[in-house]
Amino acid sequence: MPMNPPLTDWTGRVVWIVGASSGIGRATAARLARAGAHVAVSGRSRAALEGFVDTYPGALALPLDVTQRESVLAAHDQLRSQWGRIDLVMFCAGHYRAQRATALDVDDMLRHQQVNYVGALHVLEAVLPALLAQGQGHLSFVASVAGWRGLPRALAYGPTKAALNNLAECLYFDLASQGLGVSLVNPGFVQTPLTAGNDFEMPALIQPDEAAREILAGWARGDFEMHFPRRFTGVLRLLRRLPHRLYFPLLRRVTGL
Ligand SMILES: NC(=O)c1ccc[n+]([C@@H]2O[C@H](COP(=O)([O-])OP(=O)(O)OC[C@H]3O[C@@H](n4cnc5c(N)ncnc54)[C@H](OP(=O)(O)O)[C@@H]3O)[C@@H](O)[C@H]2O)c1
Repeated sequence: MPMNPPLTDWTGRVVWIVGASSGIGRATAARLARAGAHVAVSGRSRAALEGFVDTYPGALALPLDVTQRESVLAAHDQLRSQWGRIDLVMFCAGHYRAQRATALDVDDMLRHQQVNYVGALHVLEAVLPALLAQGQGHLSFVASVAGWRGLPRALAYGPTKAALNNLAECLYFDLASQGLGVSLVNPGFVQTPLTAGNDFEMPALIQPDEAAREILAGWARGDFEMHFPRRFTGVLRLLRRLPHRLYFPLLRRVTGL
């Protein structure tokens, strides 16, 4: 039994990918454009968004900064005046810097919160009234497996992704009964600008297009949660169940941190 209305035929569907100038968001936008959707792409980098439109004519570049409430609302207005409706919104914007409490940087913690979580709220505020009025549509949030449990060096990033996991669950309670789909994407490691600064070998690293393929497959099945690659996230799911007295020493041993 699917948890959301399955999304299989993208022909003529209107989709808005927020955080589409590179990485997972761009790869997902590209797959949707190739599948026949009307794709609006957002992020701060106007040049990258216009490059997407050059590659996929008919797409719409909507530059914005998710931390700026007014810029998100204005982009949404522009999308609706262009296409009149929205079938899918994916919040994929993200900020990530490794941080440990021994070098606490609250400014960067707040930056994570503003982009990764408050940004999602700004997008939610912009799209929800119209989605509720339509009684149809889908909201998808890209969080991370780093939101499942505390991890070393994820002091700034992890809590924002835990918040997104919780937000999506709360929204599902309220919106599924209104005919809306809500989904949560928890990737493992994907090779993108976001992870380019990692100074360790990332286990089970995948390319953005593989992530996009997994996401479209999850939407087609009507999944609530998509996590991948399973060879990595399956192990993390087991670790998620461990009691703290086992979890902490095991993670220390595995990561050396
Ligand atoms: N890569 C991984 O291993 C991994 C794993 C788990 C989860 N994720 C999540 O996946 C999502 C996509 O990340 P990615 O790996 O594909 O990295 P990415 O290529 O760096 O993409 C991040 C996107 O967020 C946008 N963005 C950042 N700050 C923004 C802001 N203030 N306003 C609007 N857009 C903003 C960026 O566009 P601009 O710079 O143009 O604004 C870019 O389009 C993120 O939420 C990330 O946390 C990634």
